Amino acid sequence: MKVDVLLGLQWGDEGKGKVVDVLTPNYDVITRFQGGPNAGHSLEFNNIKHVLHTIPSGVFHGDKINIIGNGVVVDPVIFAQEFNGLLKLGVDLRKNLFLSKKAHLIMPSHRALDAGKEASKGKLKIGSTLKGIGPCYTDKIDRSGLRIGDICSDKFQEKYNATKNQHLNLMKIYPTDFDLDGYEKQWMEAIELIKEFPLIDSEHVINDYIKQEKKILAEGAQGTLLDIDFGTYPFVTSSNCVCAGACTGMGIAPNKIGDVFGIFKAYITRVGSGPFPTELDDEVGEEIRKIGREFGATTGRPRRTGWMDLVALKYVCMLNGVTKLIMTKADVLDTFETIKIATAYKINGEVFDYMPYDIDCEIEPVYKEFKGWNTDISKMRSEGELPKELLEYVAFIEKETGVPVSIISVGPDRDATIIR
Ligand code: GDP
Ligand code: IMO
Ligand code: MG
Repeated sequence: MKVDVLLGLQWGDEGKGKVVDVLTPNYDVITRFQGGPNAGHSLEFNNIKHVLHTIPSGVFHGDKINIIGNGVVVDPVIFAQEFNGLLKLGVDLRKNLFLSKKAHLIMPSHRALDAGKEASKGKLKIGSTLKGIGPCYTDKIDRSGLRIGDICSDKFQEKYNATKNQHLNLMKIYPTDFDLDGYEKQWMEAIELIKEFPLIDSEHVINDYIKQEKKILAEGAQGTLLDIDFGTYPFVTSSNCVCAGACTGMGIAPNKIGDVFGIFKAYITRVGSGPFPTELDDEVGEEIRKIGREFGATTGRPRRTGWMDLVALKYVCMLNGVTKLIMTKADVLDTFETIKIATAYKINGEVFDYMPYDIDCEIEPVYKEFKGWNTDISKMRSEGELPKELLEYVAFIEKETGVPVSIISVGPDRDATIIR
């Protein structure tokens, strides 16, 4: 059985958590493969909203295996907070949540460095979540990082001190007021909690599951426009959010990938700095933010909002080999008279219908307008109920991308989902 992958196609927060929770009953195993606690994946059922950062979004379906893959970076403190929060709800993950020994650890000094480096960038700051993601992946590539597998070694403290000492030197260049000692104490306690989980050679386990015909869903974090190679560099995260990241972040061969579910909002948002061609810096954008409750699940920051960007959507469908599209938050546009989609960018008089190298410049989006549906779709549960204007909007996206929209989400709750 091949591994299906679910990926964000925009700048994150497309509704991955919700949809993974909806799809989990069809799978045996849910894995995360990149990113870390910069992610905030929300899901909702029985009128309760849950936000997960490091833990896969399949955990509310008791019998499933959840895996934190080798490509993920783990902050033990945040992991412990998530675990304890779930334990209070009666969800004890110590038996069915496995952690890859090859996943890297976000150290307290990574967080301090993230804060210090970001502050030093002034106007060029990325708008990082400040969870230590960049410095942790930097050490991974620099071959000086600490991995989960190291925590069982006699030499763990020695390795920890060696890396921390390097960081202390860097922190003289990038000072912050981050409480390193206080965080380190919590961090060491949380390391003891991590030892209670199955720490596994995840690449072997996952490939064995594939041989056993188990159904696996890989849950992406962030979104392709934040990908380190193909996103709006340098305003990106430090991992590969594209489908290929599922191969390196889990240890599976490309020919083991099955369906690629690409998820996008009916409009688009971004949190943090960086170019945003279709950004609506006006009352329409404010209305989308208000109705869509567009505030970050990890940092609470207001998200920037804009019209759907088809130039970007086609680009990311190409990069990821998306086989099925999932559209979320169409309900947020219920009251809009007109809905727009950018089909090209005009830069210095030249029209681009594909993603150019640099979009951090003056861009005039070329819009196609659609008549709004002006109907409350949030209670609709079947395709037959959906207004024709919405179906026309969806059909246009399908035609332009060449990929079918297989799920339409019409609200944050598990039930508010139309599978076509
Ligand atoms: P993720 O990072 O991709 O998992 O997305 P987030 O959880 O950060 O942000 C998505 C937000 O939209 C969350 O607050 C969800 O509860 C909410 N949401 C998801 N799908 C829908 C939908 O179809 N309609 C509405 N109104 N909200 C949704
Ligand atoms: P999910 O998985 C939205 C953004 C940050 C910042 C940039 C770099 O919930 O979709 P980092 O902390 O990685 O150094 O930040 O990336 N960012 C996200 N934006 N959703 C996310 O995750 C994000 N993870 C990182 O706001 O602009
Ligand atoms: Mg999120």
